[in-house]
Amino acid sequence: MSIQVVIARPNFPEVIERLKQHFDVIDNQQDRPWTPQSWSEALTHADGVMTTGADPVNQVVLTNAKRLRICANMAVGYNNFDLPAMTAHGVVGTNTPDVLTETTADFGFALLMATARRISESEHFLRSGQWREWRYDMFAGTEVHGSTLGIIGMGRIGQGIARRASKGFGMQVLYHNRSQLSPEMEAECGARWVDKATLLREADHVMLVVPYSAATHHTIVEAELAQMKPTATLINLARGGIVDDAALAKALKERRIAAAGLDVFEGEPTVHPDLLTVTNVVLTPHIASATVKTRLAMANLAADNLIQYFQHGRVLTPVNPDVLNAPQRRV
Ligand code: DGY
Repeated sequence: MSIQVVIARPNFPEVIERLKQHFDVIDNQQDRPWTPQSWSEALTHADGVMTTGADPVNQVVLTNAKRLRICANMAVGYNNFDLPAMTAHGVVGTNTPDVLTETTADFGFALLMATARRISESEHFLRSGQWREWRYDMFAGTEVHGSTLGIIGMGRIGQGIARRASKGFGMQVLYHNRSQLSPEMEAECGARWVDKATLLREADHVMLVVPYSAATHHTIVEAELAQMKPTATLINLARGGIVDDAALAKALKERRIAAAGLDVFEGEPTVHPDLLTVTNVVLTPHIASATVKTRLAMANLAADNLIQYFQHGRVLTPVNPDVLNAPQRRV
């Protein structure tokens, strides 16, 4: 029987062609929207699937997809996977670390700069014909160079942002993370571990790059926003759900913090309506890793995981590696 691989969302034609050399491929180049039922049905005969962070692999899907053995996520985050359920069903999950680290760190800086220097707001002002004169206070923003950056989450992307901040912008970098970096890594990143309250109190800019989990859900709610400086900015590159978006919109409206830059949202692609009406927020549609080169590298790494799994029984970047040796592994 041939091996069936489903590609959940539109993807690079060359990556689909690569997969077709190995598998019976069902793609979704028409970008058909999935309902929970049609998504589950699409995987009924699938041996493997390439997912994005928006495609859930949960108990319902796994119970129906009896042949499924591997889910290759085209994302470094994998909170769309119910990992305990996948492991219990003997389904291996993979993600795409490393290939997107520097590109995403670049975007963190782009969003920080756009937010602190009020780029979106001022462009809208210009495009709508409101610009009449040079004024001393027109779109006066917040300093980035030489200021204090607080990073919550210090994985590979957080480290990339810290290096840019300390070496490129002469910033003082504070970070808060479950585990502390080695002294050598702290020196290389120019970053210092502090508790969350200190970070929120001292940072001029707070950047969120922590993975989403039950433990990090609503890391920033009203109480944390209240601890930030009224001149501070908040940047969320991590995942929707790390921030309470309703509380953030209220704090922005009441100018309890200066501004925010958001690439991810609770319930995306829906955006909290109050965020759409406040002016001191820069909003982007989950594009932190979106350069052509990086997205192609992510797609190829996900494809490599599928090919390696079915050819050699191993994968390059597993997120539940124990499944590969476990007796419950699907064969
Ligand atoms: C990631 O890789 O996790 C990005 O957020 C894209 O989903």
